[in-house]
Amino acid sequence: MVRDLVTLDQVIEAIRTLAVRGAPAIGVAAAIGLVVALDHDAAASGTVVRDRLPDAAARLIAARPTAVNLAWAVGRLLAVAATVSDHDLVAALRAEAEAIRAEDVAMCEAIGQYGLAIVPDGARVLTHCNAGALATAGIGTALAPVHLAHRIGRRVSVYADETRPLRQGARLTAWELQRAGIPVTVLPDGAAASLLRSGAVDLVIVGADRIAANGDVANKVGTYGVALAARAHGIPFYVAAPWSTVDPATASGGDIVIEHRHADELGELPAGTFVWNPAFDVTPRALVTGYLTDRGFIAPPFLSGSAV
Ligand code: MRU
Repeated sequence: MVRDLVTLDQVIEAIRTLAVRGAPAIGVAAAIGLVVALDHDAAASGTVVRDRLPDAAARLIAARPTAVNLAWAVGRLLAVAATVSDHDLVAALRAEAEAIRAEDVAMCEAIGQYGLAIVPDGARVLTHCNAGALATAGIGTALAPVHLAHRIGRRVSVYADETRPLRQGARLTAWELQRAGIPVTVLPDGAAASLLRSGAVDLVIVGADRIAANGDVANKVGTYGVALAARAHGIPFYVAAPWSTVDPATASGGDIVIEHRHADELGELPAGTFVWNPAFDVTPRALVTGYLTDRGFIAPPFLSGSAV
C-alpha cells in the first residue's frame, strides 16, 4: 500500500500505527518526512523552518522510543541544520535525508554480502518479526543474506515466526519471501522452541531495534525466547543490523526504553482483564552468537556507533 504523507502529524501517525515500521525504515521515513513536512508550508522561509525544527524533531522522536534509528536519523538532520544558513537550510536537510535513505540501501547490501558466510547452500533459517525489505529502504537486515543467497543460486529456506500480536512474520516476512521466490514456512510463536529442538533449523537470524554498548539487543518481543531456545538446542543465533542501530550511549539492555502498546492489539478479552503488551524485549549478549553488520561481524563492547 502506498500512502502520501505531507504533514508532520501524518508522518507521526504512520510511524505510531506501524504503517511504516522496522528500525531502519522508521529512521528513513522520519528523516524524509521531517523535511517534507517542514517544506510543505510553501510560505515557510528558511528562518521559519529553523524555528519549527526542534519541536518537530522532538515530536517525531517521541513517536516510537525503542528503535534508535529514529533518533539517530532526526539527530543527523539537526546536526546539518546547525552548519548551514537559513537560505540553504531546506536544500541541506533534503540532501541529508536522501543520503540517509541511500546509505540504508547500501548498508543492507553490505550486511547481505557479509552474511553470505553464514547462509550456505541448503541453509534453513528461522527469523522473528520482519527485518527484511519491508523494514528498510533496501533488502533488509536479517533477511539480506537470505535474499542475496537466493540471488546467487543457493537453496535457502526460511521459517518465519508469526510474531504476535501484530503478526509481522505472517503478514510481512511471508509476503516478502513469497514474492522473492524463497520458500517460507510460517509457525506460531509458541512452536519455535519445538522447531528448534526438531533439528529443522540451521541458524536463527533476527534484526534489532537497538544494540547497547555491552551487546544486549532490543528486538521484537519474542526474540529473547527464541534466543533461549536456540541456545538450549545448540543452534547459532545471529543479530543482523546496520551500524546505525548500535547505540554506545546506552550501556546495557536494562537502559533501553521498551515501548508498551495498547491492550487492543491483543484482541477481544473479557472486560477488566489486565494486559502487559511490550512491543520489544531484550536478548542478553551471552545468547548472541554473532553481530552481523554492514561493517562485517563485530563484537562488543561497542564504544562508537549511532551515538544519539
Ligand atoms: O514493531 P516493529 O514492527 O517496528 O518491530 C520491528 C522489529 O522488531 C525488527 O526486527 C527491527 O526493527 C529490525 S528491522 C530491520
